[in-house]
Amino acid sequence: MGDGFRSFCWIGFSWILILCIHQVQLSEPQSDGSCDFFKGSWVFDETYPLYNTSDCPFIEQEFDCQANGRPDKLYLKYRWKPSDCMLPRFNGEDFLRKLKGKKILFIGDSLSLNQWQSLTCMLHAAVPQSNYTINRKGDFSTFSFPDYEVSLMLSRNAFLVDLVKEKKGTVLKLDSIENGKSWKGYDLLIFNTWHWWLHKGRKQPWDFIESRGKVRKDMDRLVAFREGLTTWSEWVDSNVNTTTTQVFLQGISPTHFNGKEWNETKSTTCRGQTTPATDSTYEGGSPPAVAVVKEVLKNMSTPVILLDVTRLSQLRRDGHPSIYTGLKGNDCSHWCLAGVPDTWNQLLYAILTTGETS
Ligand SMILES: *[C@@H]1O[C@H](CO)[C@@H](O)[C@H](O)[C@H]1NC(C)=O
Ligand SMILES: *[C@@H]1O[C@H](CO)[C@@H](O)[C@H](O)[C@H]1NC(C)=O
Ligand SMILES: *[C@@H]1O[C@H](CO)[C@@H](O)[C@H](O)[C@H]1NC(C)=O
Ligand SMILES: *[C@@H]1O[C@H](CO)[C@@H](O)[C@H](O)[C@H]1NC(C)=O
Ligand SMILES: *[C@@H]1O[C@H](CO)[C@@H](O)[C@H](O)[C@H]1NC(C)=O
Repeated sequence: MGDGFRSFCWIGFSWILILCIHQVQLSEPQSDGSCDFFKGSWVFDETYPLYNTSDCPFIEQEFDCQANGRPDKLYLKYRWKPSDCMLPRFNGEDFLRKLKGKKILFIGDSLSLNQWQSLTCMLHAAVPQSNYTINRKGDFSTFSFPDYEVSLMLSRNAFLVDLVKEKKGTVLKLDSIENGKSWKGYDLLIFNTWHWWLHKGRKQPWDFIESRGKVRKDMDRLVAFREGLTTWSEWVDSNVNTTTTQVFLQGISPTHFNGKEWNETKSTTCRGQTTPATDSTYEGGSPPAVAVVKEVLKNMSTPVILLDVTRLSQLRRDGHPSIYTGLKGNDCSHWCLAGVPDTWNQLLYAILTTGETS
């Protein structure tokens, strides 16, 4: 981030991720590293949710579950409680003051849209009298608070690596990341990619995958994901100057289409779920993509902070829109707002303001 007030010292993942952050401006005392923000449980909190979407005029309809007729409200009332530490309560005005003059770019698929929307609603709710502007141009959206000189951009990009229309069809190029040219000049980059790597049939946007000079009709999706993410990691390592730019990776967001993961039957989905699971009842393990993400990050020279939201979100089978999207279908992939992505942003806020990461 700006003015060279941060430098990072990456030590690595061993049994716990240890990341030393020196911050001159935003600092609070470092703890001994015993606090893991991402390990904990969901607790009922009467003061939640952090905002009412009826006060968030720019909310996407598909995330506004209450407006779409979702009858239950209990899912709005859970706060993430790390086992060994306090998560600071989100203070939107403090966030805006500390990030004054900064440009934040979210890059990724609709889960990035989910998190970006959550953050804009949280911030608007904190400073409702402050003017904001919102601008959408194709796949790029800009939300600004002129009073604070803070802008939050969203670049829709499902794979991070390039998807190119050629004569033979649309090609997903695992080694090519020309997209990166538009990611320069930001203070904070928050990347995400995963869900689209799994799409098949009508939802698969490419006809061919190109990797290391070879063009194929298809390949193992986890292998493709690893190659694409590695290309991204090399882009970050050779293009990001960490004295001016801080990089986050929004971790793998889990879906809830298979009740077996929480001790129900396979045909049970997120639909009709009204309460979180607990660690002891949620038996689904870590999705394989999480291991890929951690391996790729481990091999980077740039200290990328992983928003390791997978486990905490796995416990929220109740957090999805299901049939309350205003569209057809049963969405157990995105998240209602207010909801789980608010917690991802609280974690982002906590890391930015306390320097704690693990
Ligand atoms: C949000 O505000 C509206 C209008 O004031 C109210 O009817 C609704 O119950 C509120 N929703 C929640 C979840 O508090
Ligand atoms: C918001 O913008 C309007 C029009 O640009 C301006 O008149 C008003 O003073 C602004 N409000 C604040 C609080 O800056
Ligand atoms: C990174 O940015 C700082 C501050 O602008 C500059 O002094 C430094 O030379 C840059 N480092 C590289 C490797 O470009
Ligand atoms: C799973 O469900 C079965 C049957 O309802 C119950 O006996 C068992 O205790 C449950 N297991 C856990 C871990 O909750
Ligand atoms: C780690 O990076 C080095 C250098 O970029 C590369 O040669 C190596 O194959 C990578 N290892 C893994 C496990 O990705």
